[in-house]
Amino acid sequence: MALYSEKVMDHFRNPRNVGVIEDADGVGEVGNAKCGDIMTMYLKIRDERIEDVKFETFGCGSAIASSSMATELIKGRPVSEALQLTNKAVAEALDGLPAYKMHCSVLAEEAIKAALKDYYDKNGIEYDHSVLPDNLGCEECEVD
Ligand code: FES
Repeated sequence: MALYSEKVMDHFRNPRNVGVIEDADGVGEVGNAKCGDIMTMYLKIRDERIEDVKFETFGCGSAIASSSMATELIKGRPVSEALQLTNKAVAEALDGLPAYKMHCSVLAEEAIKAALKDYYDKNGIEYDHSVLPDNLGCEECEVD
């Protein structure tokens, strides 16, 4: 079996929603200290919906594919749904990632959460700090 699914290869070669939103309502940047990958998510939010989302990822193919898929999964969706996006859902939507690459999907989940946290903070909106902790980032990542 191929190491990477066709979907991973597709999103790696043709990533969706790459770029920057200059007047973003929320920006989230997370990094993994072990592999050095960095991911930034930009959100445009209107009427509690993710009107637009873009990302920049400096990292491995799985991180690029994960961020691309994550943007597809939340674009046009309510903020409440974007908050619940898990790295497992991202990996499943990609038809799986090798076990040692699962941490790349964690970066995508956390970058979105960091961007939502930024949006809430900027607008003085209350949120659950156990869902959006201050130390968002990929702490448990093991990189082979
Ligand atoms: Fe670190 Fe993919 S995010 S190797």
